[in-house]
Amino acid sequence: MKYFDLVSNNEEVKIYLIQSDKNFKSLGYTEQGLLHAKHTAELIDKILKSLEFKEQDIDIAKTAGFLHDIGCAVAYPEHSRSGAIISKKLLHKLNIPIKATINIASIIGSHEDIDMIPISDLAAAVMIADKTDVRRERVIKTDFKLFDQHDRVHYAVVKNSLNILKNERKIKLQLVIDTDICSVLEYFDLFFSRIEFCKKAAGKLGLSFELYINDVKYL
Ligand SMILES: [Fe+2]
Repeated sequence: MKYFDLVSNNEEVKIYLIQSDKNFKSLGYTEQGLLHAKHTAELIDKILKSLEFKEQDIDIAKTAGFLHDIGCAVAYPEHSRSGAIISKKLLHKLNIPIKATINIASIIGSHEDIDMIPISDLAAAVMIADKTDVRRERVIKTDFKLFDQHDRVHYAVVKNSLNILKNERKIKLQLVIDTDICSVLEYFDLFFSRIEFCKKAAGKLGLSFELYINDVKYL
């Protein structure tokens, strides 16, 4: 059985991710639970399959991607470090071999390290998948008057597609933003650091990162 299947179907993991989401909701943030975990894993699958990585490596990266925000179940600050420790214990309980466990835990532990080059190609794929997950569906609040900048930017993204052009050595993020809800400037104001993450991570994979918003190329 794949590690990803073991982990994504595990009840204890679900409890942690549900708690992560609850903590985020109470802070007024966007969705950070099971849906973000699944979406991140799906994007990792897409990136690494497009680049023809081995099945075992894709499984490691998807497992790390599913678990990457699990540390938010205890606290948002330093959640990558706490997430690595929580994951190591969970993976040990699931009898996942120590080599794979440490590989997954180190990807989780370093996924917020913007000042560093990603520790591996698999870590780079996790960062890109995490940082490009900007969608209207992640907004939890229903009253527009209560939206903060995070909510507005996520809500404004009506279409998000990430494509990997292997032969052109490019990764392309195409967003359609409703500019009546949020301006392109506001998007950059909030997501500048995420774009930096994506550029660095794409570079680790030997790719350039391109960003299109409403069919205009910004990067
Ligand atoms: Fe995340």
